[in-house]
Amino acid sequence: MKTNMRELILYSTLFGHNLELSQLIAEHCPQMTRCGLAETSAAALANCNRLVLCPCTYGDGYLTPLEEQFFHQVQGMPLPHLSYLVVGAGDLDYGHAAFARAVLIFDRALHDQGARRLGAPIRVDYEETTSGARQAVAQLKRARKEPEHG
Ligand SMILES: Cc1cc2nc3c(=O)[nH]c(=O)nc-3n(C[C@H](O)[C@H](O)[C@H](O)COP(=O)(O)O)c2cc1C
Repeated sequence: MKTNMRELILYSTLFGHNLELSQLIAEHCPQMTRCGLAETSAAALANCNRLVLCPCTYGDGYLTPLEEQFFHQVQGMPLPHLSYLVVGAGDLDYGHAAFARAVLIFDRALHDQGARRLGAPIRVDYEETTSGARQAVAQLKRARKEPEHG
């Protein structure tokens, strides 16, 4: 691993569930720095080689304004140096198509910029953040055992 690269857990939240999810993941990943989307920008990804992104979903499957901004920044950045996992809490009551859709939106956006998935995107109900964190940590551990590309 390049020593000047960082490992980030980024979350966005309005009601705290994705904050909680990011905290639960961070407890198992002491080498990763946790940060709110409000306190950073996609520019941080230029210096990052491992990302766990915990986005929230509002407005029937759409992003918050802050996430929209981050999304557009990501679209302009080549990210071949980045490995990532997107895991987010939504609400199953919004129906399958809208459920935690921000997770799928960001998983696709990062992939389209050349970043490498560490695992399949994880969508969990807001009452299941513990389970989501457990799944994410398991995927991160599995990915660490695999050889890095390049
Ligand atoms: C106005 C409103 C719209 C929402 N729309 C969706 C939605 O489309 N899909 C979804 O999965 N959850 C939706 N939710 C639920 C939130 O995503 C859910 O509460 C989640 O925990 C929010 O993350 P946060 O607690 O980190 O802010 C909505 C909630 C509100 C209040």
